[in-house]
Amino acid sequence: MSKHPIGIFDSGIGGTSIFKEIRALLPNEEIIYLADSKNAPYGNKSEENIIQLSIKNTELLLKKNCKIIVVACNTATTNAIDYLRKNYKIPFIGIEPAIKPASLLSASKAIGILATKGTLSSALFHKTSDLYAKNVTVVERIGEGLVPLIEAGKQNSDEIKKLLIGYIEPMLKANIDYLVLGCTHYPYLIPQLKEILPSHVKIIDSGLAVAKQTEAVLKANDLLNKEKTNGFVQFYTNSDVDILKTFVEDSFEVNYLDF
Ligand code: SIN
Repeated sequence: MSKHPIGIFDSGIGGTSIFKEIRALLPNEEIIYLADSKNAPYGNKSEENIIQLSIKNTELLLKKNCKIIVVACNTATTNAIDYLRKNYKIPFIGIEPAIKPASLLSASKAIGILATKGTLSSALFHKTSDLYAKNVTVVERIGEGLVPLIEAGKQNSDEIKKLLIGYIEPMLKANIDYLVLGCTHYPYLIPQLKEILPSHVKIIDSGLAVAKQTEAVLKANDLLNKEKTNGFVQFYTNSDVDILKTFVEDSFEVNYLDF
């Protein structure tokens, strides 16, 4: 079982930001990544629909013998991870917005959170926010339109920059000093965000924390791959192979699969 792959799924390309952290920390692990870009964005879908899509992705990764599944999508985590954990036997790792570290570190006592509608309206997000952000002002903004543009490979476009300026402005008015990226697609916007944000505002995403948590859960379940060689990596997308290829190293295999 320890030689079986780690499965990762996302509504599309965004979870590759999490894949990169996992690959850097656990290079000897085999990894299978599913980009459900045909159904992106998940952010505006109903909870029921997000659970159904998460089941579909999970079933496929189980057929490919995955030993653990990383739900590399904030929207799928906040809406579906409880269901997945209750209904399947293998461990699931989810992505939760880094509200806790941002709230603890904030000197201005104001933080910004950019995420999808599905994440910001979920019960899990409210629970985390109520628990960890009691003593800070939280300025939430839905990143409407960002995911489709990233999925189309337009992360450097003027269109994206205009949207970001609109979302960040009210946060700056509220004097935030930390910006939490609550969607795994958004780390691809860090260069543009850095052009908009004053230098004292720090950006936090969850990638490294998720990779460390994946390692800890594999270790606790005696599932770490002990091989010394680099693990094989396979990407599958049900949409444009060429766009996904621009987000990952040339040496990785990227295949089309109708799922
Ligand atoms: C989306 O598909 O709308 C975004 C995915 C995420 O929340 O990470």
